[in-house]
Amino acid sequence: MSLKKNKSVLFLAMIFLFLFFGETIAQPLNFPVHVRITNTMASNVTIHCKSKNDDLGIHVIPSGQYYEWGFRVNLWGTTLFFCGFTTKKGGGVYDIFEAKRDVPRCRDHTCYWGVKDDGVHGYNGDATDIWFKWKS
Ligand SMILES: *[C@@H]1O[C@H](CO)[C@@H](O)[C@H](O)[C@H]1NC(C)=O
Repeated sequence: MSLKKNKSVLFLAMIFLFLFFGETIAQPLNFPVHVRITNTMASNVTIHCKSKNDDLGIHVIPSGQYYEWGFRVNLWGTTLFFCGFTTKKGGGVYDIFEAKRDVPRCRDHTCYWGVKDDGVHGYNGDATDIWFKWKS
């Protein structure tokens, strides 16, 4: 009798541990994310973002406005979006969302970027901030 009881307790404990750690391990996977890119320059910014499977098209972000999109990180954690920027001060193509870099970095499932005269900034207000200088 008591052996049977012990086995059920063990079984429940295993289910609990599996749910608990399974959740922790699975959390970065299939994780919903928003990317918001704000134009803090005085003039328009033209942006073109793509992933392997999606082309988000060409958008003009007027001064002071933002462009935003959402998606889910794939199960393999290989989701990558790159964006081309054209501005009066310079331009370039940069990796704007990279799952391994940005799932731990971006807070509240949102990655904030700002386009400035000196390039593109990914900011959290801490040491994980990124600055991509214009390439051209
Ligand atoms: C900025 O973009 C807006 C909207 O696309 C456009 O109407 C405007 O002419 C642009 N301004 C300049 C200076 O290119």
